[in-house]
Amino acid sequence: MEKVIGQIRAAQEKHREELLDMLRIPSISSDPAHKVDMERTAQWLLTKLQSLGISSEIIPTAGHSIVYGEYMGAGDAPTILIYGHYDVQPVDPLNLWNSPPFEPDVRDGKIYARGASDDKGQLYPHLLAAEAWLAVHEKIPVNLKFVIEGEEEVGSPNLQPFVEENKEKLACDAIMVSDSGFFARGVPSLVYGLRGMAYIEVIARGPNRDLHSGSFGGAVCNPADALAGMVAALHDEKRRITLPGFYDKVRELSQAERDGYKALPFDEEAYKESLGVGGLVGEEGFTTLEQLSARPTLEVCGIWGGYTGEGAKTVLPAEAGAKISMRLVPDQDPEQVAAAFEEKMRELAPAGIELEFITHHGGRPFLIEPDSPYIMAGKEALRQAFGQEALLTREGGSIPVVDVFSQCLQAPVVLMGLGLPDDDLHSPNEKMDLDQYHRGIEAAAHFMKLAGEIGK
Ligand code: BES
Ligand code: ZN
Repeated sequence: MEKVIGQIRAAQEKHREELLDMLRIPSISSDPAHKVDMERTAQWLLTKLQSLGISSEIIPTAGHSIVYGEYMGAGDAPTILIYGHYDVQPVDPLNLWNSPPFEPDVRDGKIYARGASDDKGQLYPHLLAAEAWLAVHEKIPVNLKFVIEGEEEVGSPNLQPFVEENKEKLACDAIMVSDSGFFARGVPSLVYGLRGMAYIEVIARGPNRDLHSGSFGGAVCNPADALAGMVAALHDEKRRITLPGFYDKVRELSQAERDGYKALPFDEEAYKESLGVGGLVGEEGFTTLEQLSARPTLEVCGIWGGYTGEGAKTVLPAEAGAKISMRLVPDQDPEQVAAAFEEKMRELAPAGIELEFITHHGGRPFLIEPDSPYIMAGKEALRQAFGQEALLTREGGSIPVVDVFSQCLQAPVVLMGLGLPDDDLHSPNEKMDLDQYHRGIEAAAHFMKLAGEIGK
């Protein structure tokens, strides 16, 4: 093991340069203009896996390709499926970036680039750990199956059926995912819960054309106005969501879990200050940390309608729209929630408004019993690499395919996030801390050793 760690430490510069290289490819999955960049990134990963002698292929899908690699050189040892995603979020608003998102910039020990933390800089450590094992021992202590997708940020529409149809090919003893993060710097955590998601766009249509707001306003229903009122009515004064049956399946927190939340190091004042907000809103009866990961939410991610250009224009717009994400917790069902959303919005719509709904993506929430030996191995790997005991925490974000893996492959999922809470995922100036990255490679290498020791 020391030799493997020594090998990893000696190669830090190379490890950094390779990640920078991958970060230069603008693999934005949601934007058709980047289709070629998606293929280039898949090729880049394929070339790397093949250079390690790992038999690999690019699997085309109806959307972006899956990169698949398989190392079966560990005989009877357990098989670990390593999942990650090579796609990234769009970069807007571009003017708020301090350096261009696809020209990675290293400042103050951090790499600034879109995808630096989500997920290229968390996925790549696993490839580099495999490389180090092979360089030192010519073998890896576990069998590995790499599944690297290009559609996580758009809800994994093609990976989900792929997993369902390829249970044998993907059969494994545990699934390793680095696509989350530490609870705080110096506080590594293994994630035991993720929220699910129902994302719906709603379009409200009123009159058959834009109208003069003076000549028609007052009698004709204004879709922007109507939509604003409808959206506002989706929460009550206690910040509870008013959709019918929304909370019916929500698993309540046990006292033990609530105590666990209380024991986490969290300074609410510092949190507010770091975000530049004077106050917080949230469901009554729950602490901020509980609201952030154990309770469901409904958020407006975008809302539009009418005139938004320079100056003023008096207009009664013909339509308005909103994009709304709902984060779900066990045992809520994305389809049921989507149906309840539609029902409630139709009930709230005033006369003269027609509604259209577009469901963008869904994903089931995820919660594991954290007693698997693979979870213990993940915790121990983090402790060995970062020198701190790892906690078990729940996250507010979603990785839709995690529940599909868990259900289809019947194996425990180890969510060994390597990011930090201030990495600014999905925001301008996304970054990855270099120390997290380099130690992350060590953690991945430790995990391979520890998992290899788990008897089948
Ligand atoms: N890496 C994130 C998920 C995440 C973020 C987990 C923070 C834990 C902490 C992932 O890439 C992501 O952003 N997922 C989307 C999924 C959605 C598009 C269905 C999300 O959570 O918004
Ligand atoms: Zn991600």
